[in-house]
This record gives sequence, structure tokens and C-alpha cells, in this order.
Amino acid sequence: ELPQRVSIIEVGPRDGLQNEKQLVPAQEKIKFIQKLKASGIQEMELTSFVSPKWVPQMSDAEQIIEHCLDDSTRNLVLVPNEKGVSRLLSSGCKNAAFFVGVSHTFNQKNINKSTRDSMEELAPLIKDLKRNGFFVRACLSTAFYCPYEGKVDEQEVLALSEEFAALGVDELSVADTIGLANPQEVFELFSLLKHHLPSTLLIAAHFHDTRGMALANIFSALQAGIDRFDTSAGGLGGCPFAPGATGNVATEDAVFMLNRMGISTGIQLEPLLEAVEFIAPFVSRGLQSRQFLLSKTG
Ligand code: HMG
Ligand code: MG
Repeated sequence: ELPQRVSIIEVGPRDGLQNEKQLVPAQEKIKFIQKLKASGIQEMELTSFVSPKWVPQMSDAEQIIEHCLDDSTRNLVLVPNEKGVSRLLSSGCKNAAFFVGVSHTFNQKNINKSTRDSMEELAPLIKDLKRNGFFVRACLSTAFYCPYEGKVDEQEVLALSEEFAALGVDELSVADTIGLANPQEVFELFSLLKHHLPSTLLIAAHFHDTRGMALANIFSALQAGIDRFDTSAGGLGGCPFAPGATGNVATEDAVFMLNRMGISTGIQLEPLLEAVEFIAPFVSRGLQSRQFLLSKTG
């Protein structure tokens, strides 16, 4: 039986914008975030405390946090290391998103460490944040395919998930970084995770729509009992260190499909499309989501 309600975690301001070469002014990002919140979005990755040398687009993270924290939304920030955590602590944000690649090569390209070394660095940081009442999310990149190593073993995804669960994280976000997973693989992996992980652990699915399979994958994940999805307004997104990855599944397309299925998200399509319309002139790529294109042609 499918859930009657699902939670959407908006990742547009982070995953969506990080891949844009042209810097978007902080003021415009803040307006984008405010418009997204006005559409009913309740959980959002706002930005990343990563190295500005690696991802210049995120170098205004403190400014974004300063203007966008509020009590009614779960405002998440990505942190890759100890320095990221110290920036988080100074910022006043209480929700951290760590990210680690299941594939070692991807982790090396993305955060310049082996997966093992990242886990060793992150474990005490996560325990500390949990002791201090923070919400902690762990994003597992390349949970299906790696752009460098190919197919990733389900058992490795499960093992890393169990490691994060033992550290006390609140949520896992399991990602198809390069948009190559098919609905069958999605059903199998999420069924496996649901079966083995504690039922109190939140599990979200993070799909990139590189090959047009993301909506089918959402349906498949729903069937495996998943009720949380990372999506990006306008279908923006992609990781600069994952060659070939394009945007996340568009929030407006996911919301439309779920609404048509009678599954509520708490998000209103019209104000959401206004947020997409607002950000469109600031991004290099023409936005291709079905709902956005339909709203243009009437
Ligand atoms: P490194 O070069 O090995 O780091 O990078 P380092 O410790 O040697 O430091 C180098 C410089 O960066 C130093 O500055 C540090 O202070 C500074 P310098 O002395 O040269 O002036 N530095 C920092 N500055 C600000 N904030 C920090 C920070 N850390 C070091 N946190 C590092 C290692 C992790 C920093 C780098 O690799 C990095 O920032 N990577 C981030 C990559 C990234 O943001 N990727 C995209 C997000 S993940 C994603 O998109 C996938 C996801 O969507 C799920 C999916 O789809 O798969 C989540
Ligand atoms: Mg992503």
C-alpha cells in the first residue's frame, strides 16, 4: 500500500545551483529560497559549507544562512569535514547534511579522501552533533552507479547505511548520482534497506533525471515503502565532480505526479512554478521540467 503523504526535501538552492558556473548573487538565492518556502516546502538544503575553491557558487553560504533560518522549515546545510562543522556551529543552523560516496573513487574526486578516511573523520563529528541535539542527515552518493567504477554493490550500500545508523543519524538520503538506476534496481535496493535498517531511521530517495527515469524511480521507491524524496525546483542540479550527471528530478513534476495519485505533499504548484520562473534567468541551462514548459505554453 502506498503512503497517503510524502515529504519533499527541496535541494534546488544547493544541488541545483552548485553546478552553475555563473555566480548567482546571494540576494537572488535568498529570494528563491523565500519563494520556495512560500509554496509550502518544509525541508530544504539551503547551501553547503564546502571549500570555496572547490565550489565557488557556495562561497556565500554564511550569508544565505543568516537570512534564511526560520523555525518553520527544516533548513539543512551540507558539510564535508571538520571545517564545515565549525562553520555550521558558528552559523546557528541546527541541521547538518554529511555526504559520502559509497564508491571510493567518487569520494576521492568529490571530497579528496577515501570513503574510509571520510568515515573516520566524520564519525566523531556526527556523534558530537547528535549529543548536542542537531538533526543529522547522511547523503550516500553513488548508491547505484559510479561514474568511475560502474555498478555499485547493494551490500556496500547497506553496510555504509548501517554504519551511519549506528552513529545515530536521523536520516539517510540514498542517491542515484548520475541518473542511471532503473526502477527494478530502485525497488530492490530500497526494499533491502527498509528490511535491514531501524524503522525509526528516515530514508529519502535522491534521483537525478539524467536519462528520464526519475519519476518511474519515485514510483518504484514508493512501492518499496519510501515516503521521502529529494527534488529540485526547475529540475536544476548535478554534481560538478560526477561527469555526466544532470539535474535532479524536478520538484514540480514530482509534486504534480504525487498530487494526481492522491498523495499529499503540502506543496502548492502555482507558487512553486513562480519560484522556478524567478530563478530561470539566473541559470545557464534552459529549464526543461514538464510542468514549467506547460506553464509557458498555457
Ligand atoms: P582539500 O583540498 O583536500 O581540503 O578539499 P584541505 O583540507 O586540504 O583544505 C584546502 C583549503 O580549503 C584550505 O584553505 C582549507 O581551509 C579550505 P587554504 O588554506 O588553501 O586557503 N577548506 C574549507 N573552506 C571552507 N569550508 C570547508 C573547508 N574545508 C577545507 N568546509 C574538501 C577537501 C572536502 C574541502 C573539498 O573536497 C570540498 O569542499 N568538496 C566539496 C565538493 C562538493 O561540494 N560536491 C558537491 C556536493 S555532493 C553532491 O552533490 C552529491 C549529492 O547531491 C548526492 C548525489 O547526488 O549523489 C549530495
Ligand atoms: Mg545530487
